[in-house]
Amino acid sequence: MSKKGFIFDLDGVIVDTAKYHFLAWRNLANSLGIDFTKEQNEQLKGVSRIKSLEKILNWGNKTVSESEFERLLVEKNEEYLSYISKMDDSEILPDTNKVLDYLIENQQGIALGSASKNAVPILEKIHLLQKFECIVDGNSVIKGKPDPEVFLKAAEGLKIRPSDCIVFEDSIAGIQAANAANMVSIGIGEQDVLHEADHVFKDFTEISIDFLNQLVTN
Ligand code: BG6
Ligand code: MG
Repeated sequence: MSKKGFIFDLDGVIVDTAKYHFLAWRNLANSLGIDFTKEQNEQLKGVSRIKSLEKILNWGNKTVSESEFERLLVEKNEEYLSYISKMDDSEILPDTNKVLDYLIENQQGIALGSASKNAVPILEKIHLLQKFECIVDGNSVIKGKPDPEVFLKAAEGLKIRPSDCIVFEDSIAGIQAANAANMVSIGIGEQDVLHEADHVFKDFTEISIDFLNQLVTN
């Protein structure tokens, strides 16, 4: 069996942290008198902390000083971390371990490709860190998704050609990044949101071993 590279986004793919990012951003936006909808939140998925705050301020037509901007970033992250601190293995999304364990049993490359600077502590908290051969996160990239840098670095870390890599992503920006990297893009979420992906599944429970096997052998 050939070795392919399987690159996983973290938030909203492996673990249900997307809801915590949403809560923390919504509270922050509302405290500034800015409305924040689920549709706007979709546009922040996969997007770095700094870029997310820029977008929210933009939507609210607000400008803040550099020091206030920094303070708001810290405030958002502190609220987010308060949710994360209570997290355990039960928040791993359904059938994530089925997919990871199948790939491990079949000697496939497994990497993380996340925009989050909190990725390693989260993986430690849910006891999945040891299943990843390579971690590329918000601390190791310059350009965020939709730029392909995060996934290209993961492929490099796995020593696998980009065209032999498969990306699992729940964000529009992430699917665009995977496509730009010339990788197979698999959307985890809604078809109408992730229509740019090569394949879309609601979650890992919809992904069969047969489908994984095809990805490995094709
Ligand atoms: C992405 C999330 O995975 O990470 C975004 O989809 C988030 O919502 C980004 O803004 C950065 O995360 P963090 O943990 O560094 O603030
Ligand atoms: Mg995500």
